Amino acid sequence: MMRRGKALLEGSRQGSVDGGSGVSDKELVHKCHSDPGGGRALGAAPRTVRHRSASGAARKCVLTLDGYSYVIVASPPGGAGAPREEAPRPPPPPAPRNGTPKQGGLTIVRRSSSRHKSESCPTPTDEQLDQLSLDTDHLPAVDTPDACDKAALRLRYLLRQLNRGEISAETLQKNLQYAARVLEAVYIDETKRLADEDDELSEVQPDAVPPEVREWLASTFTRQLATAKRKSDEKPKFRSVAHAIRAGIFVDRIYRRVTSTALMQFPQDVVRVLKTLDEWSFDVFALFEAAAGAPLKYLGYELLNRYGMIHKFKVPPTILESFLSRIEEGYCKFNNPYHNNLHAADVAQTVHYMLCQTGLMNWLSDLEIFATLVAAVIHDFEHTGTTNNFHVMSGSDTALLYNDRAVLENHHISAAFRLIKDEECNILQNLSRDEFREFRTLVIDMVLATDMSFHFQQLKNMRSLLTLAEPTVDKSKAASLVLHCCDISHPAKRWDLHHRWTMSLLDEFFLQGDKERELGLPFSPLCDRNNTLVAESQIGFIEFIVEPSMGVCADMLECILGPLHSSSKTGASQEPISEDAPGKIANETSTKFKIRKPWVACLSDNKKIWKEQAAKDAEARAKAEEEANSPPAPAPTEE
Ligand code: CMP
Ligand code: MG
Ligand code: ZN
Repeated sequence: MMRRGKALLEGSRQGSVDGGSGVSDKELVHKCHSDPGGGRALGAAPRTVRHRSASGAARKCVLTLDGYSYVIVASPPGGAGAPREEAPRPPPPPAPRNGTPKQGGLTIVRRSSSRHKSESCPTPTDEQLDQLSLDTDHLPAVDTPDACDKAALRLRYLLRQLNRGEISAETLQKNLQYAARVLEAVYIDETKRLADEDDELSEVQPDAVPPEVREWLASTFTRQLATAKRKSDEKPKFRSVAHAIRAGIFVDRIYRRVTSTALMQFPQDVVRVLKTLDEWSFDVFALFEAAAGAPLKYLGYELLNRYGMIHKFKVPPTILESFLSRIEEGYCKFNNPYHNNLHAADVAQTVHYMLCQTGLMNWLSDLEIFATLVAAVIHDFEHTGTTNNFHVMSGSDTALLYNDRAVLENHHISAAFRLIKDEECNILQNLSRDEFREFRTLVIDMVLATDMSFHFQQLKNMRSLLTLAEPTVDKSKAASLVLHCCDISHPAKRWDLHHRWTMSLLDEFFLQGDKERELGLPFSPLCDRNNTLVAESQIGFIEFIVEPSMGVCADMLECILGPLHSSSKTGASQEPISEDAPGKIANETSTKFKIRKPWVACLSDNKKIWKEQAAKDAEARAKAEEEANSPPAPAPTEE
């Protein structure tokens, strides 16, 4: 099955994660930003209208973006006059939960006077960009209008180079720093702002913006409409500002990934398969083949790198490699047909789909993303190939240890954290105490929630929460539901994948049935190899478990992510889909934000196939019964 990590690694050093994964920065930019929107809003030529030095706690600036002017009032967390650049950064605070403001607020006053694009800074042409030098030595002073133009041009250029994968980390850093300084400099005084405040007012509170981008953003935002009603056609424009700010998250994450190139080497075949990593029906079986039985190591590594976790949480690459190899070994300990490293890789990839393709990653902090990915990777660690029911009924040591409650889930978590305590595998060694505690709590909550006995309660709780007028969804609960859904998602994948998974699971269940027979225990459901209605069980599993779960999960995602999306595309990895006309881009004033749901068609197709299969099986059974009941044919008489 799985080869030991080291041996495999040494035998296959060809191509690197960044250089050879085939999943280029360009692609990442596209995926995360859904591109042009991202580029457009982020680099939409912010222009200073006027600038004065700050006189109080609040500082202001006027930005022109997308043909609109915005007065932004900032209350920097460090207070006015605090050094903003090159100052050593404090350790990042624990990530905000439920959007609790942590970094001071920004207030945006949107003005519609500079309505036409031509009045603001025009989008630079390709020729202009081609002529640009990224030298940062001879730039205008940051508090001049000229600096704004230069910074905007540079941001455009950087985005283009990022898309092409042609930029060094140092150049990126220097230019972003310059742009950040320019933005920080464009403040006006309070009196002037009040005079301008005859328009709509919106408050932005911080949410999931990583500390590294604070310099660039000046502060963190979430959106909150403050005063007068806006004209509906202007609303997306305001959102594009919020998204422009959010887009900084991605630049930051991409940047981190670029810098962590001294990483594990990936075999070319793995690199090839990983190119389709963002697809809903990703072929994890192909990854298994390409990775010579070690899919989890490569997939886990690729994901943690893609989301910038290796850089952000300073995970030493060799430690991560050892951790993933040991986790993968643990999955192979009992040679399970289903609960093995391949299942872990499958669930982790599906979680990745949810994070990146629905935009969930925008709502979660870095630490929450890190915890979610690790939870997916370890969620069935050292699975015994038998169910909780079997552990309880057979009185296993593990059942004794965990008092018959969530026996396996407790073991997966406990064994994984025990492994992390091993110095060679301690991927959390550079987390602060607070970060570690939060990470651990999140992982424990998420993996415990994969216990199927919690399924109906979990769905019921989320459903009733979503019926509230203004639901506040807990990050941990949301991530737990996502992980749970991904754990049972194979019936919602392409038929060939789902069928293969089902056969593996049934093999495992039947092996348990064999053990139950040996031990004189009653068969657990679906475990009697001679008396299990496979097709019917799958139809039931799809109709009563998977479909409702995916439905609630989608409702939850639409509820929490709706406010983060807009028709501006920026920062979102996909378009909102109009409720009344699939494929049409949602106009948030008239339609509710919808995520794409590739699982709906798969579920329906698979159910149909199982139904046909069930009909055939029933026919075959009836025939067999008839034959069994019919009197034996008379023996031929001897002449
Ligand atoms: P586990 O992966 O630990 O958590 C989710 C559980 O759902 C899984 O174990 C199985 O017990 C169960 N499960 C997944 N797929 C199916 C299926 N096709 N039919 C029945 N049960 C399933
Ligand atoms: Mg499990
Ligand atoms: Zn599982």
